[in-house]
This record gives sequence, structure tokens and C-alpha cells, in this order.
Amino acid sequence: MNKVKSLNQKDLLGLKDLSLEEIKLILNTARSMKEVAARPIPKVPTLLGKHIITLFYEASTRTRTSFNMAAKILSANITNVAISSSSVVKGENLIDTVKNLEVMGTDAIIIRHSMAGAPHLAAANIKASVINAGDGFNEHPTQGLLDIFTMQEKKGKLKGKKVLIVGDIYHSRVARSNIWGLTKLGAKVVVVGPPTMIPKDIEQLKVKVSYNLDQEIEDADFINMLRIQKERQEKGLFPSIEEYHRLYGLNIERMKKAKKDVVVMHPGPINRGVEITSEVADGPYNVILDQVTNGVAVRAALLFLLLGGKNNSD
Ligand code: CP
Repeated sequence: MNKVKSLNQKDLLGLKDLSLEEIKLILNTARSMKEVAARPIPKVPTLLGKHIITLFYEASTRTRTSFNMAAKILSANITNVAISSSSVVKGENLIDTVKNLEVMGTDAIIIRHSMAGAPHLAAANIKASVINAGDGFNEHPTQGLLDIFTMQEKKGKLKGKKVLIVGDIYHSRVARSNIWGLTKLGAKVVVVGPPTMIPKDIEQLKVKVSYNLDQEIEDADFINMLRIQKERQEKGLFPSIEEYHRLYGLNIERMKKAKKDVVVMHPGPINRGVEITSEVADGPYNVILDQVTNGVAVRAALLFLLLGGKNNSD
């Protein structure tokens, strides 16, 4: 199969839409970007003159900041629109907002929104690139890519590796992007959680469903713990935090059942003591801060590829 050198699309809306070759291209480019980010002066002129806007309708620490860092490494200009002091509070709709931002000379708009499909709607209405930084329950593609990048960094090829995604699968855009990406790379994905938190049709995405973490943990290569998303739950989906932690929380006792080289991941922010204890989140198996570091490289790779760069390194 011919290796692709650039992304054949103006937007990055989800890993569902990417081919295996495109995912590999982004991950390979991210390896080069990680080397650039680690230099004493982490700056290259690649995107000099490009203008990028972040438009986040939901809170963020990691995603928004790492897009800012990535843009600055590539010498692009970046502007963060603060929704709470923008004309969105006067009722301006998404399409009008992105059209107005585009005509200021914007090359890419990075959008986070509580509604699934909001970045897709924006992308269909402007010529500038749109990057999905998380849309409702749907996808968080750059999180999926940085998770996969981190997994490959720790264990090489993912074909045949067992990946547990544990917790609130129903509300998790991180879970969906991981599933789309990991299954394309040949990993064996098992989603684990209480029945109330697992969508009925999830098996159609070529994953195994389990309600028993103790059974699945023994031969897992990776455990990706999801945050309990209290802000997206209309009603309680489990009896109590204690009950949830007893059945699905990752703690030292449960870790004794896992392989010695298991890798523990979490997209952040962490509810410490709920889905994972501090002893495990800060313990020897965790790569949680590596995930955050890798987010800069992955997002730089995407900006580079979407705004005109070609990867000729292999
Ligand atoms: N993982 C993640 O998306 O973190 P933020 O919400 O802080 O961006």
C-alpha cells in the first residue's frame, strides 16, 4: 500500500473518518514534532503567517493549552475566543460565529462544543479548516490520537494488544475516538462498566463488552480509565460513588491482578478516589502525564498536516 504524505481533507472531525494510513501519517508526523518540542528552542517557522482560533464552548485545561503550545512551536498566530465574553452570550449562533471569525483571515478553527456534530456543522459552512476538540458524546479525535501515540511509545505495535476502556462509555467521546482508532490498528478493545453506562449498540464498533473489571484486568496490556462525567448525566447511573469505585475503580488491590507491565492511562481531569485512586494515578504503571506531553506533539502534527505541510520523512 502506498504511504500517504498529507491528509486528503480540510478538517479533522473524528477518527471514524480517517483511514488507517492517515492515522499512521499523523502518528509518524507527531514523532517528528515531539523531537522539535524537546529542543532547547522549540520553534520552527513552518506555519509562519497562519492564523488559528480556538472556540471552546466547554471548559478545558489540556486540549486548549496544548493546541496553543503546538501553534506557537510552528510559529502560527493563535487567538483564544472566550465564550463567556463573546457575542455568543447575546445569542449569536455557531454558523454566524465561525463565518465572522473566518473572514478575519483565519486558517483553522478548533472547536469544543457540548453538542455532537457542532464542529461538522461549522466545517460545512466555512472554507477554513475545522478541528474537533470534543463534541458532546461523539468524538475527541486528538485525545484518541495522543492516547494511541502514547500506547505505541510504551509497547510498540498495537495489533493484538488488549486495551480496556473502563467507566462511563455512554457519555465518553474519548472512548469513541479510542475505539475507532484502536480497532483500525488491530488492537483488541474491551469496554468495561456498569450496564447503565454502556450503549446498547457498542458491539457494532468491533469491541467486546464486559461488566466485570476483575475478570478483564488479568491479561490487559493497557487500562484506560475514563472520568465519570457528572456534567453529562441526567440522572444517577450508579447507586453511589462507593459502589462504583468498589466495582469499577482502579486501586492498589485491583492492580495486584494485572500484568506486571500493564500501562495505566487516564485522559484527565481525574476524579481522584472515584475512577482511580491517587496511589494508582501517581504510581509506577501510570503514563498520564506522558499523555499530556504527547498531546502537544500530536496537535502540532495535525496543524502541520491540515495547514499545508507534507511529511516526507519516510
Ligand atoms: N482530556 C481533556 O480533554 O482534557 P481537557 O478537558 O482539560 O482539555
